Amino acid sequence: MFRARLAENAGHVQQHLMQVCDSFEQTDVTHAMRYALDGGKRLRAHLVMESARIFGVEDTMSIWPAAAIEAIHAYSLVHDDLPSMDNDDLRRGQPTVHVKWDEATAILAGDGLQALGFELVSTEESGLAPTVRAQLALGLSRASGARGMVIGQAKDIAAETAAVPLTLDQIIDLQRGKTGALIEWSATAGAVLAQEDTRPLEQYAQAIGLAFQIADDILDVEGDASKAGKRLGKDEEAGKATFVSLLGLDAAKRRAAELIEQSHDAIKCYGEKAGMLRATADFIIARDR
Ligand code: IPE
Ligand code: IPE
Ligand code: MG
Ligand code: MG
Ligand code: MG
Repeated sequence: MFRARLAENAGHVQQHLMQVCDSFEQTDVTHAMRYALDGGKRLRAHLVMESARIFGVEDTMSIWPAAAIEAIHAYSLVHDDLPSMDNDDLRRGQPTVHVKWDEATAILAGDGLQALGFELVSTEESGLAPTVRAQLALGLSRASGARGMVIGQAKDIAAETAAVPLTLDQIIDLQRGKTGALIEWSATAGAVLAQEDTRPLEQYAQAIGLAFQIADDILDVEGDASKAGKRLGKDEEAGKATFVSLLGLDAAKRRAAELIEQSHDAIKCYGEKAGMLRATADFIIARDR
């Protein structure tokens, strides 16, 4: 049931994104944008659509923020893979954008995807109320910029050459920005769309966001690269500060499992309606890619 729903949501968001890409002038940079959007689990889009369903918001509405967050996420990955960042040559089982094209194209494709994300949450084409669009766009600015993902990424890079290893609190803070902020935006989008209280979903998202990054760090150590579609074993080599580097695999796994329990508790107030979000939380630490 969970897998089928994830695949169904992924299909919808893919279709939406490809339709937008078809409307662009066809050049290297727009081809690279389309390429970077392709594949991926679409977990963030799924969180948008499933949090929206709790409040009875139609897919035809939630598809816009769902597509938007995948554009922002794809941008973050294209830039994350650049030689000056993680220097990766494989993403989603394919050569990274700067390898397939070149660095300038990768930087511009990332920039284009970022702008596209804001276009998709703001456009009147979605039929969403102007106040809802403004609230989503403001939240997305905060989550993706210097209050969120960008600052987390900067701390991640800085930690590689830090004189002393980061503390647990510093790693939690780093991961809250790097990964947590976009996940929180996604999982609270449903409540924003419905103009309902976002707090239960915030609690849920904070727990799964951290668990998601811990799972990513665990995958880097003991994952199967052919399933993950990216190079693994690189965090230790690069001197990344992760839960695994600080606590070891077993404690990291325990911590992730505790966080998933907490995430379930956070959404008890939605009762049966939260079944899909509970299953999504479980998937986050059970995944192999
Ligand atoms: C990978 O994110 C990057 C991190 C934030 C750790 P995902 O694991 O969601 O990547 P895709 O979208 O499925 O490729
Ligand atoms: C990437 O984190 C996070 C963002 C792009 C915001 P990682 O560097 O750990 O992601 P992977 O392991 O390359 O997918
Ligand atoms: Mg990185
Ligand atoms: Mg990386
Ligand atoms: Mg990683």
